[in-house]
Amino acid sequence: MKTAINSKITANISAIGRYLPDKKLTNKDLEKHLDTSDKWIQERTGIKVRRIANKQQATSDLCINAIDELLKNRNISANEIEVIIVATVTPDMMFPSTACIIQEKIGAKNAWGFDLSGACSGFLFALQTGSQFIESGRYKKVLIVGSDTMSSILNYSDRNSCILFGDGAGAVLLEPSLNGYGIIDSKLRIDGTGGDYLYLKAGGSRMPTTLNTVKNNNHYLHQDGKTVFKYAVKGMYKVSKDILERNNLSIENISLFIPHQANKRIIDLTAQKLKIPNEKVLINIDKYANTTAGTIPIGLYDAIIDKKISKGDYILFTVFGAGFTFGSTIIKWGL
Ligand code: ACO
Repeated sequence: MKTAINSKITANISAIGRYLPDKKLTNKDLEKHLDTSDKWIQERTGIKVRRIANKQQATSDLCINAIDELLKNRNISANEIEVIIVATVTPDMMFPSTACIIQEKIGAKNAWGFDLSGACSGFLFALQTGSQFIESGRYKKVLIVGSDTMSSILNYSDRNSCILFGDGAGAVLLEPSLNGYGIIDSKLRIDGTGGDYLYLKAGGSRMPTTLNTVKNNNHYLHQDGKTVFKYAVKGMYKVSKDILERNNLSIENISLFIPHQANKRIIDLTAQKLKIPNEKVLINIDKYANTTAGTIPIGLYDAIIDKKISKGDYILFTVFGAGFTFGSTIIKWGL
């Protein structure tokens, strides 16, 4: 069948859902057993409180709560979903994939899918991957989920890392648009030289779990925060600038900048370099800390709730994470 001129298919976000565990872990709570202070954490990171999953909740459980809300919002059943892509570095287990676990639990009988490991950039990597399925014309309903249960891989005796993260999930549905709404462009990058600065060593084929790996805390996240900080500002600035230039857009054309929420100072420095005014920058790190792959969809959800975006607005997302991984995506909001 011939399609009309100008009817290029774009992948539009047609629904969103979010889930944050009820349990709150405040800086004051952390002060009780850690050599830190509410003042230090707020000044150096912007974080006040984070959400923590309960002992029964794994990443798939957080995802399913977000997906349930999304399905209700879109008023469709799970049967209609064709692809499930789950961005996470804290899957329920090594295999089967979290996508399979979710598929079975929500009853998405007609779906296939997979997990994608891109750390804090995982959601944008998954969004770009899913958008190709829509743009090709092959699929009509692709579910993109970003979620991490960071509390399951943190050493709560390490003040350099445990203060930074929280648990959460966000999900979006991609559907075709013939009016140019949705994902306009993505510029995604990986730089494996960053592998020494942010990693979880044990449990893979390089270092299978043993009593010794546990004794040495190799099953926890490790990072060189200072180095990650520097690369994050540089990387986020570069991809944001490049993607705007490539699309002939300026900061004035962007209604909202939704950056990865790793540290408020990283966000402020990146926004300053890009000359984005504060009122155009989404900040929610104070409430949720860094939820890794959950951060971008949770930020988008907050932007919708707070009425910060309207149909036709251009939104710039920029991320940076372990790998290193980084990237920017521009969407034309179509809801
Ligand atoms: N409370 C009190 N003091 C602390 C704490 C804490 N929680 N953490 C570190 N300090 C101390 C340090 O020990 C150091 O003390 P010293 O001078 O006596 O040695 C002092 O504070 C300064 O430490 P810095 O490392 O210079 O502190 P900095 O201002 O760089 O902040 C931080 C550290 C918050 C980790 C910051 O570097 C950062 O946010 N880095 C980026 C982290 C990040 O983006 N991670 C990405 C994860 S993304 C993913 O994909 C999983």
